[in-house]
Amino acid sequence: MVVDNKKHRIAVIPGDGTGPEVIREGLKVLDAAAKKFKFQYETKIFDFSGERYLKTQKLIEASDIEELKKYSAIYLGAVGHPDVKPGILETNVLLKLRFALDQYINLRPVKLYNPAFCPLKDKKAEDIDFVVVRENSEGLYKGMGEFRDKGTKNEVAIQISYNTRKGVERCIRYAFEFTRKRNRKKKLTLCGKTNVLTYAWDLWQRTFNEVAKEYPDVTTDYAHVDATTMWFVKNPEWFDVIVTDNMFGDIITDLGAMIQGGMGIAAGGNINPEGVSMFEPIGGSAPKYTGKNVINPLAAICALGMLLEDVGEARAGKAVEDAVIKIVASKLKSLAAGKMGYSTTEIGDLVVENL
Ligand code: IPM
Ligand code: MN
Repeated sequence: MVVDNKKHRIAVIPGDGTGPEVIREGLKVLDAAAKKFKFQYETKIFDFSGERYLKTQKLIEASDIEELKKYSAIYLGAVGHPDVKPGILETNVLLKLRFALDQYINLRPVKLYNPAFCPLKDKKAEDIDFVVVRENSEGLYKGMGEFRDKGTKNEVAIQISYNTRKGVERCIRYAFEFTRKRNRKKKLTLCGKTNVLTYAWDLWQRTFNEVAKEYPDVTTDYAHVDATTMWFVKNPEWFDVIVTDNMFGDIITDLGAMIQGGMGIAAGGNINPEGVSMFEPIGGSAPKYTGKNVINPLAAICALGMLLEDVGEARAGKAVEDAVIKIVASKLKSLAAGKMGYSTTEIGDLVVENL
């Protein structure tokens, strides 16, 4: 519900690489949306970049997390710097935020806006329109495990998938609620690997079946993760909402991004339904395109649309998405960096004009 005179406080983390460029366009759209839909907002920029880390060795601290908890939402550009060893920023910025703010859902809509940009043959826009609900706080991402006899010929590396009943249930419950509210096909598919991962997926399957009893209006389905990737390519129209664990969700949503037209358009939300959520384009920091004004800002702009909906500005969020749909359908030559027929800033302007 839109609360009159409420001022949305948005924490902005431009991050690395092309992050600041796409966020700049997103903020341009935010400003236009605020004027059109008459809501108040303020932003504060937080520099949690690789650049800052290289200069100061600083990452995200406990006090930063406390500060971020005071915001209505977080808008994130990209994480990853070519001069910082892989893993440091990912773990200490992106995953740190997701975990510390208990953003236990990673919501990734997969929607084709223009069939011309779909790598699959003969797919219409309405054939690719589903949402992946990825568990975002547990599983293989928990960071549990150990080395045994590291560096020797007998070395063993163990990486644990950690699944709690509470963690699995809250994710599944969110997915059922989401499917019901979305009200499209009202079908929820559990994507797992019950045939091999017999501990984790036994818990997931049991929990899914139990929670399903409370949602008789939602049709349920199950697909193994390997088969899911096959269906994404063969019959994406079968899906409505998919719920899965952290690792599988990570993998299948990159494929999802490709069938919706690529990283240039794929957005996601890290959701804490009871707390502060964070919205981001799901592509990386794209160092090779940095500073060239060629990166596609639409993924970041779509992420802004999701953010607006989350803070109670659903009409504005929908208008942003509609403007994106319009220009993707009629103006852009491609969704790929450097090939769009427009620069990064021109695309931001086009969205504003079509709002
Ligand atoms: C994503 C990314 C992250 C993930 C990386 C950067 C840690 O790939 O958001 O999907 O694995 O979750
Ligand atoms: Mn990923």
